[in-house]
Amino acid sequence: MGLRSAAGRPVAIARGAPTNVALLALVAIAFVTGWLAFAFATSPARWSLILHATGGFAILALLPWKSMIARRGVGRPRRGRWASVLFGALVLISMAAGLLHSTGLLVYWGPLTAMDFHVGAAIAAVPLAIWHVVARRVRIRPADMSRRNFLRGSAVLAAAAATYAGSELVVRAIPTPGAARRFTGSYEAGSFRPELMPVSSWLFDAIPHLEPTAWVLKAGGREWTSDQLANFDDRVTATLDCTGGFYSTQEWAGARLDRLIGNASGSSIRVTSATGYDRRFPIENAGSMVLATRFGGRPLDAAHGYPARLVVPDARGFWWVKWVTAIEVDDLPPWWQSPFPLQ
Ligand code: HEM
Ligand code: HEM
Repeated sequence: MGLRSAAGRPVAIARGAPTNVALLALVAIAFVTGWLAFAFATSPARWSLILHATGGFAILALLPWKSMIARRGVGRPRRGRWASVLFGALVLISMAAGLLHSTGLLVYWGPLTAMDFHVGAAIAAVPLAIWHVVARRVRIRPADMSRRNFLRGSAVLAAAAATYAGSELVVRAIPTPGAARRFTGSYEAGSFRPELMPVSSWLFDAIPHLEPTAWVLKAGGREWTSDQLANFDDRVTATLDCTGGFYSTQEWAGARLDRLIGNASGSSIRVTSATGYDRRFPIENAGSMVLATRFGGRPLDAAHGYPARLVVPDARGFWWVKWVTAIEVDDLPPWWQSPFPLQ
């Protein structure tokens, strides 16, 4: 039962439902816009991240209200209290890591990045979030849909947007390292210095050490040896923007995909790695993608995809398949794949 004022009316502050519902919307917005930003290496990533950060700051703005609700909840001897507390801890870890990344105060932590913690904690929070919402069900009452609550919600959003804009101004004015990040939020690393380019893989791929004599590439109905591929000298200067939070621009050299697939007809191109990792592309893009064997005038090293890796200008790093062994054309549509690799 909610608190009642002397006049017998419910005290608005005792009703947690509007705060909880607003949190549900904000956490969902932060989650979706985060992935949307990962999907693009072009300007939609920025718009998505503006929404993302505003959503994140709005969650912070609701903390005073939510901590009142949480304190009350923790005080009730109920099953699953600690799951809620763990959920809270993961959201706070994610948020802290996001802010460390964006300000640049801590971008790398050993072999991991602040972004790895940010996204890792957010993903780990998902099952707990679903449990929390089901186990701590809220009931919306007509009084919750009041003009007053609408105005409060708008004020929270406006304050969040202003805080985000303010934080970006402070980052640039001091400046903190975050001032130098790209529109995707990524930091420059080792551009035009291949030996300094960081190494990263999507999820679980270990670096395979492939023997050039044993390696062949299947493409365009034939097999190519590494010597045959080395004869191609198609060049492209392109930026690999990694979802781990760094970007690196290099001059890549190798074979344009349209030359390798010949006149094969179909709807999409599937590029497969020696590790089993694969990505699918529209066939129309064959002329803009390069199967690189060199970067910055030197051969690729094992960590960067030796003997051959894909270069996909304007696409996030997880599209740049490394250690490529097959390039096949078929009639499946290019969207016939998980939007983000599952391995
Ligand atoms: C619980 C869910 C999440 C919350 C509350 C959250 C919140 C935040 C916050 C507060 C920031 C710092 C914003 C800034 O100061 O610029 C941030 C940055 C960022 N987040 Fe999230 N985030 C969440 C999940 C995710 C997910 C799932 C992804 C990606 C799949 C993601 C991608 C990013 C990126 C790329 C940045 C860097 C933006 C930049 O530096 O400009 N976030 N997030
Ligand atoms: C940022 C997201 C959220 C965090 C970190 C969070 C955290 C917590 C914590 C730590 C508690 C106290 C422990 C407990 O009662 O189990 C709690 C209670 C509760 N939460 Fe959340 N929560 C969040 C979002 C939500 C959402 C989206 C809903 C529902 C739509 C919700 C509904 C509730 C309810 C009804 C209670 C119980 C309050 C009471 O017993 O008086 N929470 N929350």
